[in-house]
Amino acid sequence: METLVDRINTDTPDKLIIQKYADIIKNGGLVAFPTETVYGLGANALDDSAVRKIFEVKNRPVNNPLIAHISDIGMLETVARDIPSGLERLFAAFWPGALTVVLPKRAAVPLSVTAGGETVAVRCPSHPVAGELIRLSGVPIVAPSANLSGRPSPTCFEHVYTDLYGKVSGIIDGGRCDIGIESTVVIPKGKSVLKILRPGAVTPQMLEKCGFEAHVDKNVLAPVKDNTVVASPGMLYRHYAPRASMEIVRGDDDDVISYINEKIVQSGADGKIGVLCFDGERELYRNAFVIEYGSADNPLSLSKNLFAALRRFDEADVTKIYARVIKPCGLGLGIYNRMLRAASFNVTSL
Ligand code: TXA
Ligand code: MG
Repeated sequence: METLVDRINTDTPDKLIIQKYADIIKNGGLVAFPTETVYGLGANALDDSAVRKIFEVKNRPVNNPLIAHISDIGMLETVARDIPSGLERLFAAFWPGALTVVLPKRAAVPLSVTAGGETVAVRCPSHPVAGELIRLSGVPIVAPSANLSGRPSPTCFEHVYTDLYGKVSGIIDGGRCDIGIESTVVIPKGKSVLKILRPGAVTPQMLEKCGFEAHVDKNVLAPVKDNTVVASPGMLYRHYAPRASMEIVRGDDDDVISYINEKIVQSGADGKIGVLCFDGERELYRNAFVIEYGSADNPLSLSKNLFAALRRFDEADVTKIYARVIKPCGLGLGIYNRMLRAASFNVTSL
């Protein structure tokens, strides 16, 4: 398939360019586009056959539902109904932004979007290109991350190009994503209580400041046990996976650094061991493929670079990755959640 590609200046997006992609969406095609979290693969949320194409192209399990993206709060009623009172302050505080809210679905939303369920996940992205694409399309746009299923989510144009060029009708190149991990997903549980199904840049602390009790679902930091019912199907899959097996190493700096170095030596020190560490640590590891992914004091630098780092390890063909993490609080909770899944919950605590 021919794939239309344009580079867009995200500060002053050119409407004429975005209009071409909006027309593709209106005509039932698929367009990958930048958001502030990760790139999304978009289709008209109200067009069942367009939505099905997303699952085919990504090779995504059909029982994993999609997020419907809206350009403003006025569009919410096109996809959701019976919106619990009290959520206005949530929308006012975090939309547009990196928060997805699970709500009762409208009949117009095809069951392919919701994996047969009666709820729909909704997000209003803050990225100017995403907003304009939805506005010009005139319909809500469903968009999972624009990667092939099982690969790390795409945080720049090159990642999307690698996974989807030739398989979709269009890709809008908007440079790098600011946040780099996917949105926080919450489901309202009675008045003023939210359950966090997937942690992201909207942290439990931020939700609590806004007047909500925030409960983190147990499967955010623990693997799903066989045969249990999960609150969000996304929890079931080994997401964000690099090809090499990954081990998260936690503990005091000195202990972690000497543990990883011992492992490098034991493996034969042939440069095939990957180390994911913090800025300024490169020189501490010899004969390894080292990526510094950001500053331990600046979680946003880590979230922004994490998925790109996992893809680079793949390209370098490392056999094993040892990874350093920050504490699982604030944005660190979202980062840790993604790393746990990349590592299939393989954690060594020293
Ligand atoms: O930041 C993001 O959310 C990105 C950008 C493109 O907006 N999108 C994204 O979509 O991450 P996706 O499809 O990769 O992840 C959607 C997550 C999955 O974990 C899915 O199981 C969950 O949201 N989800 C979707 N609908 C749901 C529903 N009705 N109930 C519970 N979980 C739902
Ligand atoms: Mg995804």
